Amino acid sequence: MSEIKAAITGVAGYVPDYVLTNEELSTMIDTTDEWIMTRIGIKERRILKGEGKATSDMGAEAVKRLLEKTNTDPAEVDMIICGVVTPDMLFPATANIIADKLNIRGAFGYDLNAGCSSFLYALVSASKYVESGSHKKVIVVGADKMSSIVDYTDRATCPIFGDGAAAVLLEPNTEGLGVTDSILKSDGAGRIHLHQKAGGSLKPPTHQTIDAREHYIYQEGQPVFKWAVSKMADVSVEMMHRHGITSETLAWLVPHQANMRIIEATAHRMGIRKEQVMINIQRYGNTTSATLPLCLWEWESQLKKGDNIILSAFGAGFTWGAVYLKWAYDGKKPETDR
Ligand code: UT7
Repeated sequence: MSEIKAAITGVAGYVPDYVLTNEELSTMIDTTDEWIMTRIGIKERRILKGEGKATSDMGAEAVKRLLEKTNTDPAEVDMIICGVVTPDMLFPATANIIADKLNIRGAFGYDLNAGCSSFLYALVSASKYVESGSHKKVIVVGADKMSSIVDYTDRATCPIFGDGAAAVLLEPNTEGLGVTDSILKSDGAGRIHLHQKAGGSLKPPTHQTIDAREHYIYQEGQPVFKWAVSKMADVSVEMMHRHGITSETLAWLVPHQANMRIIEATAHRMGIRKEQVMINIQRYGNTTSATLPLCLWEWESQLKKGDNIILSAFGAGFTWGAVYLKWAYDGKKPETDR
């Protein structure tokens, strides 16, 4: 029997309607559109508004659209992994909540938190179940309501993040298409530069932790930037070398959308043109676990069967990695919900 690979057979996404522009941010903090565009490259980001709205609502909408466009019955889903750093609750898993909202019963699943590399880690983890033959329809969803942990008085972090969700369906493929190789890395020493100080078992919530604003993202931008630039490029270039991929044979780089300068530096080290890079950071900002599948969703109509695609990310942990996949179908699968 030919080798089983895990192929993406559909992708769908969801972003909330509310658009938070640089102009509006400039009325909240001491910043300008010019600073944000020059230093980060973000024009606007989406924010999930509304009482009682959580990460799972966006994740469930993305998965609902995915099930519809791939004609998948919820009862057929074997497994659902949710990449997420802003779960609805500390427990149970957001994957369980999304599954419940869509009447996916009995499927194995869990959340995976690897900072901004969550989707990449989840994609590789899920692909192992498909490759083993044990699971046949596996959903990987990346979803984050970053606005729930962003301090909108901190001008160094609040322009960066946005809310969103996107999901892919993985199925077995024996034509040599799908997830082909991965390099996943972490270095926990980097956690000092990017974390949330309180709310976990180290510092459960108290009035003091709230007064000290410790339930928000804490980030030292410069070390994170330096690590991201070198590590994302290192693994992406290594992946090209491992498989003899050149700037001519690579169809697309799908980079994590954290900072336009990090994306450009990665593309430059890989020796590829900007036209080969999926970039939507201007409109969505850094949606953490959702950046990579949101790109795939947006570019789906341009993708062709057999395309060589490298996905690359860096995030809190520190975590980073690259995945090489061969795209499994031509063009766009119709969205039935729009
Ligand atoms: O997905 C992984 C998660 N995160 C990342 O990948 C983020 C990586 N880091 C970065 O993208 C960048 O470090 C930032 C965008 C966060 C910051 O850019 P930077 O070029 O590293 O700026 P900086 O922190 O060195 O700040 C430069 C100056 C400072 O002023 P002084 O001290 O030079 O007077 C800041 O106070 O810019 C100031 N500044 C701002 N000015 C206007 C910081 N934030 C703002 C702002 N508007 N929003």
